[in-house]
Amino acid sequence: MTADDPKSKPSDSAPKAANQLWGGRFARGPAAIMERINASIGFDKRLYAQDIEGSKAHAAMLAEQGIIGREDAAAIRAGLDRVREEIEAGAFSFKTELEDIHMNVEARLAELIGEPAGRLHTARSRNDQVATDFRLWVRDAMDRMDQGLRDLQAALIEKAEAHAATVMPGFTHLQTAQPVTFGHHLLAYVEMFGRDRGRFRDARARLNESPLGSAALAGTSFPIDRHATARALGFDRPMANSLDGVSDRDFALEYLAAASIAAVHLSRLAEEIVVWCSHGFRFVRLSDAFTTGSSIMPQKKNPDAAELVRAKTGRVIGALNGLLVTMKGLPLAYSKDMQEDKEPVFETDDTLALCVAAMAGMVRDMEPQPDSMRTATERGFITATDLADWLVRVLGMPFRQAHHITGRIVKAAEERGVGLDRLDLAAMQAVEPRITEAVYDVLSVDASVASRTSHGGTAPEAVRKAAGAARERFL
Ligand code: ARG
Repeated sequence: MTADDPKSKPSDSAPKAANQLWGGRFARGPAAIMERINASIGFDKRLYAQDIEGSKAHAAMLAEQGIIGREDAAAIRAGLDRVREEIEAGAFSFKTELEDIHMNVEARLAELIGEPAGRLHTARSRNDQVATDFRLWVRDAMDRMDQGLRDLQAALIEKAEAHAATVMPGFTHLQTAQPVTFGHHLLAYVEMFGRDRGRFRDARARLNESPLGSAALAGTSFPIDRHATARALGFDRPMANSLDGVSDRDFALEYLAAASIAAVHLSRLAEEIVVWCSHGFRFVRLSDAFTTGSSIMPQKKNPDAAELVRAKTGRVIGALNGLLVTMKGLPLAYSKDMQEDKEPVFETDDTLALCVAAMAGMVRDMEPQPDSMRTATERGFITATDLADWLVRVLGMPFRQAHHITGRIVKAAEERGVGLDRLDLAAMQAVEPRITEAVYDVLSVDASVASRTSHGGTAPEAVRKAAGAARERFL
């Protein structure tokens, strides 16, 4: 049975020899089914680099503190480098009977360097070892995610700048509301992904304490230097409590929570792309690079990538839920349940990284269709609010009354089958005699968007400024 094939059953059902790392108390090895439920090497081999870094830092500290000899530490360091090379060359044979990455690495180290390998685990347990490895891995994942989201923001900002003055209908309740610019709409997502990056950053700061030296749960009687190992591994400080050190998985939960919110944002944008690509809208076109055809309907070009980004959000939220449920009943300190923390995080990282990259690709690929967007603004009396605001500003009417008068004018336009900007002055004056020719200045969509210059508003000039500011803040 190999780690690559965790479902294959060992052909040999006879009892195995006791484990070489803890066999002292065990007369025989585990049942085959025990080995299968217990082993994590099939997935935790992804922690190999972090495991080796953690062990190197630990060994160096043990030597520095006079707990092991300097020659032993040197042999351990060289041996661990060999193990890493073997793994990276694909020449390492991962063994399910050695359960996890920690024991696979240590067993190979023993084969390579002999006796000194047995000194590495002094003043350490797999409990603080795995907590350290996993923190290092999640820290890297957070840093990679920050880069991916940054690139997505860059794609959105570029498109927003190109379409700072492209008008489209803005919606509430998916009903035509007020005209906005496409650039303004895209910059909303830049803000959302900016907060996502902030959440990963905040979580990273809390994650960045070292559990190493918590040992099994209680600390150790050896004179270790936890500050030294924390420093060597880029942590800000050692964790303050050894029980917490081995049992805390908040960092994984926070990673999954931040990932879930980011996935929700991606899903909302994906949904908009699906809607925008539809024949009812035609606001954007995606090229062949991000669409697929139908096997039966020759005319189809489906936005599959957007649909899959929308769909994969389910997995990410599922991973967060799964780990929350796994953790909720666990007493202090370590329980084997925690071995189940890795797969949801690995899967989330794979999924979210793919979705972020696909979304950046789609945003760059997407060709907005300004004519369709403008045509869509001609329906739905989209400048009704501008008319009401004019009544307030020019005639000094209270807004509530202006709202009512505008409603009656919209009704008149509807009856005549024209837009507000085409309704003749006499029809408006029949509702409110004080309205003058000047009202038409505010009834076009261009005038409407150009007037919305308030901070964070949709005016092309404001959008250009906001895009520049977003570059400064995020890129
Ligand atoms: N593979 C284990 C995990 O991922 C490592 C820690 C095992 N500790 C133990 N006491 N059995 O959680």
